[in-house]
Amino acid sequence: MCGIIGYIGNREAQPLLIEGLKKLEYRGYDSAGIGVIPTGKQHIAVQKTEGKIIDLISVLEKHPLASGCIGLSHTRWATHGVPNHRNAHPHFDCSKKFLIVHNGIIENYEALKAKLVAQKHVFRSDTDTEVIAHLIEDCYSGDLLEAVRKAVKLLRGAFALGVISSYQPDQIIAVRTGSPLIIGVGQHENFIASDVPAVLDSTNRVIYLEDGHMARLTRDRVEVFSFEGERVSPAVHKVAFNIEAVQKQGYAHFMLKEIHEQPDVIERMLKFRLKGMAVGLDGLTILPEHFKRVKHIYIVACGTAYHAGLVGRYWIEALTTIPVTVDMASEFRYRNPIIDKNTLVIAISQSGETADTLAAVKEARARGAKLISICNVVGSSLARESDGVLYTHAGPEIGVASTKAYVAQICMLYLLGLKLSQSFKKISTKQRQQYIKELKRVPGLYRDILHRKKVIHRIARKNSHFGCFLFLGRNINFPSALEGALKLKEISYIPAEGYPAGEMKHGPIALIDEYRAVICVAPQTSLYEKMISNIQEIRARKGKVIAIATEGDLSIKKHAHDVITVPPLEENLTPLLVALPLQLLAYYIAVHLGCNVDQPRNLAKSVTVE
Ligand code: G6P
Repeated sequence: MCGIIGYIGNREAQPLLIEGLKKLEYRGYDSAGIGVIPTGKQHIAVQKTEGKIIDLISVLEKHPLASGCIGLSHTRWATHGVPNHRNAHPHFDCSKKFLIVHNGIIENYEALKAKLVAQKHVFRSDTDTEVIAHLIEDCYSGDLLEAVRKAVKLLRGAFALGVISSYQPDQIIAVRTGSPLIIGVGQHENFIASDVPAVLDSTNRVIYLEDGHMARLTRDRVEVFSFEGERVSPAVHKVAFNIEAVQKQGYAHFMLKEIHEQPDVIERMLKFRLKGMAVGLDGLTILPEHFKRVKHIYIVACGTAYHAGLVGRYWIEALTTIPVTVDMASEFRYRNPIIDKNTLVIAISQSGETADTLAAVKEARARGAKLISICNVVGSSLARESDGVLYTHAGPEIGVASTKAYVAQICMLYLLGLKLSQSFKKISTKQRQQYIKELKRVPGLYRDILHRKKVIHRIARKNSHFGCFLFLGRNINFPSALEGALKLKEISYIPAEGYPAGEMKHGPIALIDEYRAVICVAPQTSLYEKMISNIQEIRARKGKVIAIATEGDLSIKKHAHDVITVPPLEENLTPLLVALPLQLLAYYIAVHLGCNVDQPRNLAKSVTVE
């Protein structure tokens, strides 16, 4: 949801800003812009354009900016104001002495704008962001940090800001509240950015700015303050991954690279979390005995993470006997859920910055619930909000459609369920060990499926002309159907719906004819035969059936037009396995249709607005 980057140092700002911005393009790609203070000059030079960073680069080739060693840059996911040149960031005040980039939403911008207009401020865009530049202009009396501090106190909403001024060309002011912002600490140079990958080419030392904090960066110094003006001493962290982790490394797309990383992601997690046959969940600060007091578990999440939560429900309920409700965070926060101190909330989020998820957990905590989060991004807002954090350590996920983060979330939910089962004694030690043994087979099975991906490629190409897809699954694989449908519609724009197979006859069956395809998630499980009956109902209505089935299942070939097989595995773990062919199917269909799989239209990876 918008990416921002800022640089101050001894090097030329423009190339550093553009290279860094490219690493943030997953956050939005409606427009892009850059502003630099030319060395020795009293003004700020700006270029911006509707479209992607590549379009900004073309503009800069035709109209290069003057040389300068301090600047800001932005890639936008439009909220207020259509995506065009006028609304592209950075934004100036009236005097063009102050320049800002912003990620987030200013909720009270209309009231602020009305006041500023009444004071004769002239606005050049329809954005909420521009009010901030004008407020800073009003508040400035010789100290940029102080002017920004006064201005942000008037704002309501979520914002990460970068501010520069030609009055004080030796500093960048950074502000964070509700939207992520990190500071990259270098040698005689410093950066601000929405996410770590943007600075990794230059430094692996970062400060995760806290909500309600602001910073002044000069070439050689980073000072951090609270909004009240008190100085704070932030920790400087060394980032655990390197620049290769955020490059395609020969793959056609980040999504394909991330799909291929999955066996390693699972293997790494199991190695780290399993001590022999015991599950060790460092970060789970709530003691297993305390879980016994828990009367209800809510899992809250958005998008793909919500589907991971749906899988987790089956597993956790089966292993703990605690009722689990899974809610979309955007609904949970407004539906007045029944929560008290015996409620446990498990929030799942790859980024840890999704606005709805954050708001939902804040609401739950205010009512006394304990909070565990399953998060991929270390130091994210969600992680900091939680009583206990289980990091998935899947590495940076750049493709907008989530793949490896989903698989890592499910895997973590399995481990959490197994850990809790120790306190609830719902299963014997022997049975738990059997599950763990099966879990350890998964990375190898993933590699097998990846070796045979050509079959999936062929089936995808053959079926990519269908204008509508229905995805069906049962029981623990109903969420697999939802996720398969989401993957396909996100990246190919083909209407796709996930449904529990048993519900098909209550509506979706009306869709079926020879022009629609139905993907049936049908591994060998206790409900296999019921799934076969559903497949027959589809065939009777001339629907095209593509089945995801277990290797060696000869009977499915009689019923389905195309079959993608996965190796046999313990029933409860099948969602982990079928995720892979569903991802590949969506990927190959989208590529065949010529879609931009890494940057699907209208989407953003990290949704930091409501
Ligand atoms: C966006 C992304 C999805 C993601 C969802 C939740 O919609 O496009 O891929 O699943 O946000 O994101 P989170 O970071 O909270 O997992």
